[in-house]
Amino acid sequence: MAPGEPLLEVRDLVKHFPLTRGVLIKKQVGAVKAVDGVSFALRQGETLGIVGESGCGKSTVARMLVGLERPTAGHIRYRGEDITRLSGRAMKAVRRNIQMVFQDPYTSLNPRMTVGDIIGEPYEIHPEVAPKGDRRRRVQELLDVVGLNPEFVNRYPHQFSGGQRQRIGIARGLALRPEIIVADEPVSALDVSVQAQVVNLLARLQDDFGLSYVFIAHDLSVVRHLSDRVAVMYLGKIVETGTDEQIYDHPTHPYTQALLSAVPVPDPDARAHRERILLSGDVPSPADPPSGCRFRTRCWKAQELCARVEPPLAVPAAFHDDAGPARHASACHFAEERHVVPSE
Ligand SMILES: Nc1ncnc2c1ncn2[C@@H]1O[C@H](COP(=O)(O)OP(=O)(O)O)[C@@H](O)[C@H]1O
Ligand code: SF4
Ligand SMILES: [Mg+2]
Repeated sequence: MAPGEPLLEVRDLVKHFPLTRGVLIKKQVGAVKAVDGVSFALRQGETLGIVGESGCGKSTVARMLVGLERPTAGHIRYRGEDITRLSGRAMKAVRRNIQMVFQDPYTSLNPRMTVGDIIGEPYEIHPEVAPKGDRRRRVQELLDVVGLNPEFVNRYPHQFSGGQRQRIGIARGLALRPEIIVADEPVSALDVSVQAQVVNLLARLQDDFGLSYVFIAHDLSVVRHLSDRVAVMYLGKIVETGTDEQIYDHPTHPYTQALLSAVPVPDPDARAHRERILLSGDVPSPADPPSGCRFRTRCWKAQELCARVEPPLAVPAAFHDDAGPARHASACHFAEERHVVPSE
């Protein structure tokens, strides 16, 4: 990897799921454009937050990053190497370094397996990481690392709370000592009171092990604590990207502004002054996205141009000095700063 090169780089990533009709003879009648040209970079030790409403394509991006889904087009580079279409042993070796933590700790852990077997399962695929005789000790060490009692190794998932189960999922994600963790809404299924504990655990693990995270959430407030950079997704595309400060304090895309205006503000004074932007309607179908700007059917600023011309993800002309790694780009013809939520 050349100096300064990102650990993970994604270029124009696309995933279209074919829509077929017919039972015996299947005919493709269209495609669900779940991910439609997404680019980003993740640097070593950094956290990239990806946010957006449900159905925007976040999980599909995550699944492509860890090799659970094959991209329709585009590239994924890891340490400078194109890993998009690797297979067999080469793929396995790379995947060891990029692990996933799943959204729902209730369904992602096999109820018939003990916690020890769940956390140690990755060693079945990569026996070179931990010889058989050493696995139990390693699993117990991992339990300790995620704040669970190592004595629990023979218990079953149903004997744990939601937060504890997600700790088990995180321990499994760490088993192979990966460099990158892709966490797909790791706290969305948890009680609010438990969410912070799991986010704090992830932050501590990042420091202890020098991990890099792609952290996915539908709620902007969840990612703020961890993210160095944030990418906001809408209907298969990134509509705004920047540092956490740029996104939270100076959002320029109407969609980001609307998402931020929905984040609860604890301070009653600040709450009284803030302007709520209500998003009308649902996310349109990714099988038939709107022409031009995909957000236009829900955008209060939409004009005739928006239906005709798709806005590129670019740094708005007014902020052209803002380039380089701190690039604050927005896919809107009329991007402008708007102060939506006072900083904490
Ligand atoms: N295997 C699949 N086959 C067909 N459509 C899919 C498949 N997986 C996801 N989709 C569709 O792709 C879109 C994006 O889904 P997803 O990536 O799960 O979004 P998010 O994680 O942001 O909620 C949705 O419309 C979803 O229904
Ligand atoms: S390009 Fe037009 S429709 Fe799209 S976000 Fe900007 S103002 Fe709204
Ligand atoms: Mg999802």
